Amino acid sequence: MNKNKKIVVVNNKGGVGKTTSSNELFAPFLSFENGMKPTIVYEFDEENLHGAKYCNSDCVKFSPQKITNSNLENNIMDILLEDSYAVIDIGANKSTTYFLEALEKSALDQIISLVAIPISDGEQDTLNARNIYRKIRAMNKEVPIVFVLSRYTPSRELEYQFDYFFESLLPRIDAKDRNWVVLNDSDCIKFARKEGKTVFEMSYDNTDYKSIIKNALKKKKSSKKIKELSQRNKLLQDTVEYRKDVLIPAFNRLKELIN
Ligand SMILES: Nc1ncnc2c1ncn2[C@@H]1O[C@H](COP(=O)(O)OP(=O)(O)O)[C@@H](O)[C@H]1O
Ligand SMILES: [Mg+2]
Repeated sequence: MNKNKKIVVVNNKGGVGKTTSSNELFAPFLSFENGMKPTIVYEFDEENLHGAKYCNSDCVKFSPQKITNSNLENNIMDILLEDSYAVIDIGANKSTTYFLEALEKSALDQIISLVAIPISDGEQDTLNARNIYRKIRAMNKEVPIVFVLSRYTPSRELEYQFDYFFESLLPRIDAKDRNWVVLNDSDCIKFARKEGKTVFEMSYDNTDYKSIIKNALKKKKSSKKIKELSQRNKLLQDTVEYRKDVLIPAFNRLKELIN
């Protein structure tokens, strides 16, 4: 079995869901594929290191990296050559430029198993995604590429929310590259992160909040406390739905793309 699987997550626009998809989708996916062993998430971002928030996670092993490292090329080579399952989350703007330049110089891009390009629904996001797509393809003709439709609102029509993606981007790229997974917008992402874990892991938490709430009611706990407990109960249920409706379908798609 190939012990070296690397997923690179990139888009030079900030706030499009790179860090969220790295930690909530790609790391749990690789852990799941790897007997629930932790996945290293390398975050190349000088400004904000959000991966640090997954401090209690069993599937995310956070590893911050310096994009201004004068030895960036060697750093990237070491990461790519290591026998490990890892996600490489590249920060926006300069981080993207520096990383892609160093990656090209390293000539090790053929080791990458998948390149993921997260986008939100704006026009600018879609233009950026297309530029990044072109850069990746100019460097490497083979690597599978997937777009992550980030922060999808489930009550809306997917094709309507991501109209720029479906109408302007998809028709202009190679048929073999018209791949996407969807990451719904959900408060359970925030909820899990507060616990220092991923939604995927939280969805297996068996805490019986119903009994806890009943007990709290018996003990005449404050209504504020009861409300807090029922909120947690609801969010925990949301993580189970998120796993079934969002993560597992995305895992299945990723499996097809990587193999
Ligand atoms: N699916 C989602 N559900 C809820 N919040 C999300 C989701 N995706 C991203 N966010 C929020 O949007 C913000 C930007 O996302 P982030 O992943 O940090 O973007 P990037 O790494 O591309 O800058 C963060 O505050 C994150 O919590
Ligand atoms: Mg980020």
